[in-house]
Amino acid sequence: MIPDPRLASTREELTDALAPHRRAGATVGVVTTMGALHEGHASLFRTARERVGDGPVVATIFVNPLQFGAGEDLDLYPRTLESDLAICAREGVDLVFAPAVGEVYPGGDPQVTVDPGPLGAELEGASRPGHFQGVLTVVVKLFGLVRPDLAVFGEKDYQQLVLVRRMSQDLCLGVQIVGAETVREPDGLALSSRNRYLGTEDRERATVLSRALRAAQERAAYGLPAARWAAMQVLDEVPESELDLDYLAIRTPELTDVAQLHPVEPIPARILVAARLGTTRLIDNLPLTLGGPPAAQ
Ligand code: PAJ
Repeated sequence: MIPDPRLASTREELTDALAPHRRAGATVGVVTTMGALHEGHASLFRTARERVGDGPVVATIFVNPLQFGAGEDLDLYPRTLESDLAICAREGVDLVFAPAVGEVYPGGDPQVTVDPGPLGAELEGASRPGHFQGVLTVVVKLFGLVRPDLAVFGEKDYQQLVLVRRMSQDLCLGVQIVGAETVREPDGLALSSRNRYLGTEDRERATVLSRALRAAQERAAYGLPAARWAAMQVLDEVPESELDLDYLAIRTPELTDVAQLHPVEPIPARILVAARLGTTRLIDNLPLTLGGPPAAQ
């Protein structure tokens, strides 16, 4: 039987629980989450386990107020610690750090925060001002507390993954950032803690996002405009009154602008979408290969 993970809710408990691992020189892996854990998070724990071997896998569970804007779902955000701990136990997580807000921000909002740079104001950042500043600030704090060798982040939040990777490089944090593929429902919907807000009809409509991205993937050999058009055709299946499209963007894997719309040689790219279904905002993304010889019919 796998033993239950140790639960730390204060900095001191965390340091104490990690001390024997540090003395043994173990590789420490962390997966940072806001809880309401699902199979997407579980896959990150498994990736962390593969990477750290016998070293400890640490899960952090903290709903970070700093990354929620006014009018966002901070108060509504699901808090399900019991079932989260059961998932951590099942996945062989060694240590769960689930601090209270005052433990992470003892002096209230921090005076010094992490500036996400220009990418922080684009895509998700354009609709959610201050969001990535809040994300990067809490991630750097959690890295400071756990002092991991590596951290696993999901491609589900692709812009977050790119920004965290960039932060670790630009600020020399020495934490290896590992990306993990998006886990989906059988019908393609990316798992998200926010999917539980969807009513039955919106849940059915929600598959339009992943179907649009797949359609773009299939047309990507014909260039960026063709890929975009294919995605728009699918998104147009749902009337504007029911699906409020925020953005559909095709960028490089680092999320800079794609230089060539019709590349002759195949180039890697990423397609990203965000839309509101009813009151729920959903995001999704997939890799694309733009240009090159179209696949044989
Ligand atoms: P949260 O939304 O709980 O996500 C925690 C981690 O799980 C992120 O790296 C996210 O990309 C990953 N994840 C979520 N759904 C996934 C899915 N369907 N497949 C694969 N991975 C998935 O992202 C956050 O929390 C916060 O911003 C955080 C980084 C914890 C900072 O507060």
